[in-house]
Amino acid sequence: MSVQQRNLNGSSEIYKKISKFVPVNEWKVHAPLIEKINKLKKEKNAIILAHNYQTPEIYHGVADIAADSLALAVEAAKTSADKIIMCGVHFMAETAKLMNPNKKVFLPDMQAGCSLASSITGKDVRLLKQKYPGVPVVSYVNTSADVKAETDVCCTSANAVKVVESLNVEKVIFLPDQYLADYVAKNTKVKIISWKGTCIVHEQFTSKEIEDIKNQNPGIKVIAHPECPPDVIEASDFAGSTSGMIKYVKDNQPKKVMLVTECSMSDNVEADNPNVSFIKPCNLCPYMKKIDLEKILDCLENDTNEIILDNKTIEAARKSVIRMTEIGR
Ligand code: 13P
Ligand code: SF4
Repeated sequence: MSVQQRNLNGSSEIYKKISKFVPVNEWKVHAPLIEKINKLKKEKNAIILAHNYQTPEIYHGVADIAADSLALAVEAAKTSADKIIMCGVHFMAETAKLMNPNKKVFLPDMQAGCSLASSITGKDVRLLKQKYPGVPVVSYVNTSADVKAETDVCCTSANAVKVVESLNVEKVIFLPDQYLADYVAKNTKVKIISWKGTCIVHEQFTSKEIEDIKNQNPGIKVIAHPECPPDVIEASDFAGSTSGMIKYVKDNQPKKVMLVTECSMSDNVEADNPNVSFIKPCNLCPYMKKIDLEKILDCLENDTNEIILDNKTIEAARKSVIRMTEIGR
């Protein structure tokens, strides 16, 4: 599993690694914040978890653990810290809270949402269950706690096929990403009933773009996230979760690569793989980008933006996430 466990150095060491991606004038603003955050999180016994789409100064500068959404859920459950700061989006912070009901979990900006999570509500799932009685519900982890509370088992892009097949049934309701549902349907015999949610970042890529890049860069390896449209995945050499993509680059060390996903990923992975050259057409996730160092510091100093969930929702939603982590990758 590709979980980046950090032994954070002083800020000048960090800057050596990411100077290619962070202009020096920006770094002058980031460096004192990084020093403050790394000192304060020790004093407060807090841990910073960051998704792979966070900017390099967060990913390489203050994150104790950087990972994909499955590993973030697993790592959140293992921590002995009193406080968890989730540098990611709202559903990731809620998932961390579900795994740690007795700990304080913070999200640096409550507006850090997700187009997939907001495409479906708990009420929608109840209606679907009425329409398809007895058919189990598999929900992508990119959903609200209310949706998870109506779900039999969660999945992420790293384990979607395995989770669907673990149910040993002919049919499942698979929510909410239609493209991930297509990807799963192609890789299993189980019949998939899907929902029309999309990721605003990945739906924008086209197979024409991939073909053009391949023509302009002979030998390039193109790696796509399963939230991309099916023809984009088809045109790519490999598809996998964000950690799956990182592992592919680390293990294969291709001469040239393009990661068909959110922009910060390529910068973060390039900093760890200096011998690989990256072609970077990418799309920004406006939600992930709501997180910055100032807001992280504010969480640490003032306990801002704590995730609060009622016990009934925690009870119901937690089961579907735990079931997923037991199935693994
Ligand atoms: P991963 O589970 O692959 O990290 O993806 C999360 C996400 O939000 C991708 O858009
Ligand atoms: Fe949601 Fe897409 Fe952003 Fe991931 S990249 S948080 S799926 S909108």
